[in-house]
Amino acid sequence: MRAHVLPPALHWRILRFPTVATDKDRTMLDPVIARIDADLEAALGRWSELLRIPSVSTDPAYAADMRRAAAWLVKTFESLGFSAEIRETDGHPVMLAHYPGPGGDAPHLLYYGHYDVQPPDPVELWDSGPFEPTLVDGPHGRRMVARGAVDDKGQLMMWVEALRAWKTVHGSLPVEVTVLVEGEEEVGSRNLRPFLERYRDELGAADVCVVSDTTMWDVDTPAVTYTLRGLLYTEITCHGPSRDLHSGFYGGMVANPLNVLANVVSRLHDEYGRVRLPGFYDDVVEPSAAERAAWDGLNFDADAFLEEVGVDTPGGGEVDRNPLERLWSRPTCDVNGMIGGFTGAGAKTVIPASASAKVSFRLVPDQDPEAIVRGLRRYLDEHTAAGCRCELEVHSAAPAIRIPTESPYLRAARAAMGSVYEREAVLIGCGGSIPIAAWARDLLGIDTLLMGFSLEDDGMHSPNEKFEVTCFERGTKSHAALLAQLAARD
Ligand code: BES
Ligand code: MN
Ligand code: MN
Repeated sequence: MRAHVLPPALHWRILRFPTVATDKDRTMLDPVIARIDADLEAALGRWSELLRIPSVSTDPAYAADMRRAAAWLVKTFESLGFSAEIRETDGHPVMLAHYPGPGGDAPHLLYYGHYDVQPPDPVELWDSGPFEPTLVDGPHGRRMVARGAVDDKGQLMMWVEALRAWKTVHGSLPVEVTVLVEGEEEVGSRNLRPFLERYRDELGAADVCVVSDTTMWDVDTPAVTYTLRGLLYTEITCHGPSRDLHSGFYGGMVANPLNVLANVVSRLHDEYGRVRLPGFYDDVVEPSAAERAAWDGLNFDADAFLEEVGVDTPGGGEVDRNPLERLWSRPTCDVNGMIGGFTGAGAKTVIPASASAKVSFRLVPDQDPEAIVRGLRRYLDEHTAAGCRCELEVHSAAPAIRIPTESPYLRAARAAMGSVYEREAVLIGCGGSIPIAAWARDLLGIDTLLMGFSLEDDGMHSPNEKFEVTCFERGTKSHAALLAQLAARD
């Protein structure tokens, strides 16, 4: 499960990518760039159409909107000359589209995105309706404000618009393309793994998976992400008495599941911020000396990073690790919510029958989610006080990924971004998770290219989520430049 299905030498086809765009690339690319400029306002309009569909995956009330979003994508890809359709899963549907490409040995790209978004709550903190996309002026020019503006509707629309511009200018695409846009990324891509297994032959024919769902370094510095943390999302339910009890009549004799659960949760970390599950760090890989040097060279401003979210000290994580390590290469454990007992107005004296906590773990290479679950079970067995019983439910599990930086596709992506921005693209890690990356490697045998254009202050998952129009525009051009790089092979 941890090794590449195929060694890199076999699954990277023998392609030679120029690191600097040649005259031939520019001849193909320049008119496409001009077309992207000319079509920008119309592109913002199409992006807004998608943003107006409230495709919240976690809330069953939006099931019909999920379908509308998938259908909107089918229509969009059909208009670009793709064969496109909705494929059912046990949850929200996947939109799958194919474009044949020029034949011969042209590369085959699998573009991945997600049309689902996080809930807009708390709605009262938005300055405009979360599903009424609004263009607002900011320090970097116009920005699009809406739920999903950046995560991931705005980012996926960049490659859609790049494909559109290329097709409009040249009449056809220079590569074979498969597109997979899922509706359950924000709920852990619950049905994606079986989907990839089922359509393995169809999807595994691609050479590389292309994703725009990560950040750049800053507004003028593009980045390719080469590590993603994984995510294990669990729920611990602590059971005590058979019904809610009077805390005076029973208190002192009957264990309180909320007290017991709070105790279990409070001991998940030691005084140095390390996670105390047995075996938790066994498989964790340390960054190489070269990696550490490269990260140091990025001059990450941890104070500014914390200040932007109103925090003045790095209180989370392992005290003996530096900031980028803590964000990119160290695993974490966070309580995301606790439920139980009396939470209404006023006071009620009660010992609740049960209480639960949503506890998630960010995983790093080469941690195995299943081994972490076993460690958590053991931890619960050892730390649950007498009179209570803790039950463990796993909501989703996706391993971390590390993409080989020597991949020719990664080089092509950096060259593409470098030709659009004045600066070279840096290599960065990412603390967040995108489950397809590890599964594309393990099930399809291909690497993922993470070309993201989000900024730190875009407010992914927060109120007033936004995406800068300059990021959208230059991201679209970077995707066009990637096509030029790949078309110019040989
Ligand atoms: N686009 C994010 C991943 C991301 C987060 C990239 C932060 C860059 C910075 C993605 O949509 C996301 O939110 N993923 C979830 C995955 C989970 C539900 C499996 C996450 O990281 O919490
Ligand atoms: Mn996303
Ligand atoms: Mn997200």
